[in-house]
Amino acid sequence: MTDNITKKIYIETYGCQMNFSDSEIVGSILTDHNYVTTNEIESAHIIFINTCSIRDHAEQRVRKRIAELRRLKKKNPELKIGILGCMAERLKEKLLEEEQGVDIIAGPDAYRDLPRLINTIENGQQAINVLLSAEETYGDISPVRFDSNKISAFISIMRGCQNFCSYCVVPFTRGKERSRDPETIIAEAKDLFEQGYRELTLLGQNVNSYNWHEDGQTNFPELLEKVAEINPLLRVRFATSHPKDISDQLIRTIADHANICKSIHLPVQSGSSRILKLMNRKYDREWYLDRISSIKKYIPDCGLSTDIISGFCSETEADHQETLSIMETVGYNYAFMFKYSERPDTLAAKKYKDDVPEQVKSRRLTEIINLQQKLSLQNNKKDVGKTTEVLVEGFSKKSEAHLSGRNSQNKVVVFPRENFKVGDYVKVKIEKCTAATLIGKAVQ
Ligand code: 5AD
Ligand code: SF4
Repeated sequence: MTDNITKKIYIETYGCQMNFSDSEIVGSILTDHNYVTTNEIESAHIIFINTCSIRDHAEQRVRKRIAELRRLKKKNPELKIGILGCMAERLKEKLLEEEQGVDIIAGPDAYRDLPRLINTIENGQQAINVLLSAEETYGDISPVRFDSNKISAFISIMRGCQNFCSYCVVPFTRGKERSRDPETIIAEAKDLFEQGYRELTLLGQNVNSYNWHEDGQTNFPELLEKVAEINPLLRVRFATSHPKDISDQLIRTIADHANICKSIHLPVQSGSSRILKLMNRKYDREWYLDRISSIKKYIPDCGLSTDIISGFCSETEADHQETLSIMETVGYNYAFMFKYSERPDTLAAKKYKDDVPEQVKSRRLTEIINLQQKLSLQNNKKDVGKTTEVLVEGFSKKSEAHLSGRNSQNKVVVFPRENFKVGDYVKVKIEKCTAATLIGKAVQ
């Protein structure tokens, strides 16, 4: 395949952290086959878009992008376009029919097949592989790292999801849940630490149901502990957790290790037990609040964040008020907040009516966002006057005279640069804040 040596691949990623991690796996598979990745779209021979299907809006963005790439292709007919990820999986051949100019479709479990798919299109044909697998974890692949700071990286520890929350397309696009061999995870984590990385985020659609059965058993708290024990200078984070499996064992493991970050992302979705039941979340308001109490008991300084969906099928004003009240009770640092978007073929699309009017969804979402803004500010104000340890990630957005990083609670902290550099741990005394940022000065 000598003619492949100079073929350049450009990968653009939409959606979640999992997708960013997958793009790095794709980069690795292709560079192993004599392709090179490039940051310059103009020089690429093949452009891949790694796509997201979670909300209709995410898909519309990708379609707009494909239209732009079609214009590039008009100028350069040799250019090839590949669609990866969840939209590829959800729409399959339909995407080839609907989106002119697309050459390759590959679902999330088909990335090892990309070199073959690329060879197929050399003859002017289209190529598609959307087979889902019960085993594929890409465990043996060490991903190329597209992240630029060389300090924080993602490690994918499991794939797929079989919770079937009624609103969610992921079980259909990413298939069955499967855990990756812990030895390959630890080896990857050690290697990253030796390269100078100081913060690793263990990723999965549902990390705390991680469970490896072969050659003994390893559950998520055990895996987390093993990664944390690599070196005290290595920070460990994880995302995303499902409230149904956030065990006391996990909470105590976080509490017992200084380098496991004191920050838990625990999507609540709604504060109403009735709506949670319709969402098939497998917990109710009381269960969720009990888990929060346990977190607060063992890890009093834990940062908490969440995902919230407003306007799910049949949501009443009273249900919405319960969402606002659970936000107040927990006092989240941060939240990702969305309007419900019906996804074809999901349980909710089949069983329930998307009956909350658009204006009502929007108004409720605005109320949720405004409340979160208030809670974030309240939370940050409590940190003014305190000293917090920050891992420096880069310059602040506003000036190169300031550095920016995060503390254990996952809060962004900005402070004057002095002689500090990326990768340093710096103790910063907080002097003021906004809802999004803590601002301070380094102390000895
Ligand atoms: N509509 C709106 N938000 C959704 N999410 C998942 N599916 C949908 C949907 N159909 C949100 C959930 C999830 C996050 C990743 O995206 O809050 O936790
Ligand atoms: Fe989007 Fe979910 Fe697919 Fe991630 S897994 S890209 S959030 S649909």
